[in-house]
Amino acid sequence: MTAQQTKLQDLPTDLKRELLPQHVAVIMDGNGRWAKRQGLPRIMGHKRGVDALKDLLRCCQDWGIQALTAYAFSTENWKRPQEEVDFLMTLFQRVLRQELREMVEENVQIKFVGNLQALPRSLQQEISRSMEETKDNRGIRFSVATNYGGRQEILQACQAIAKQVQQGLLQPDEINEQVFESHLYTAGITDPDLLIRTSGEMRLSNFLLWQMAYGEIYITDALWPDFDRAEFHRALCAYQQRERRFGKV
Ligand code: IPE
Ligand code: IPE
Ligand code: MG
Repeated sequence: MTAQQTKLQDLPTDLKRELLPQHVAVIMDGNGRWAKRQGLPRIMGHKRGVDALKDLLRCCQDWGIQALTAYAFSTENWKRPQEEVDFLMTLFQRVLRQELREMVEENVQIKFVGNLQALPRSLQQEISRSMEETKDNRGIRFSVATNYGGRQEILQACQAIAKQVQQGLLQPDEINEQVFESHLYTAGITDPDLLIRTSGEMRLSNFLLWQMAYGEIYITDALWPDFDRAEFHRALCAYQQRERRFGKV
């Protein structure tokens, strides 16, 4: 290993280990604009976006961040042109197949969050396999939000809880935050401390509506394929300057 690589892996000295977010979430936005600027079709932006995500996952592992959640496809993204949707589904499947071995070896625990039943069958199979093969891994917890919608997640939790009440398994006044969270796609994953959105858009786009009640939000103008370690470093520096009050004074 070269000195340069060793340096890259280390936590930058201006970051405090004890103040790192445990869980980082990312809205990977701007792939299309990145491609357009290069005079390329939008799908090329998605391809490059995968590389940026792989780099970020590696960086989180290097720097000791325990969980990463990435927004890959929203419930609203089905409204895009059919070719783009098809390309994305095929891309997810191919990348998952290519990267699974390495994730198993690197102790990554991968989980997909979202309405997975509506995804193409072959992708669902790849998803199940990846979750099964990494379920006992105890390294970084990597969640990929695919066909994810925060409102839909909340509604399906309500339906599941209502069924339990109807069956007499639960009393209405027993419904508390813990019970509710146990029915979300993200059950068992701590809420994100930091949400990063690229490409300058200042909205949640239906991402982690419940979970982001107190998460810090960081927005950068960088387009997702350009989001690198230096960008992530800047986001973490900004995060470490924040005072998280949680309603207190
Ligand atoms: C984000 O990039 C990737 C997905 C939503 C899958 P976009 O495709 O939204 O890129 P822009 O926002 O059009 O530039
Ligand atoms: C959010 O980006 C979804 C993902 C990054 C997967 P969009 O590009 O779909 O969001 P809007 O449409 O600009 O709100
Ligand atoms: Mg976008």
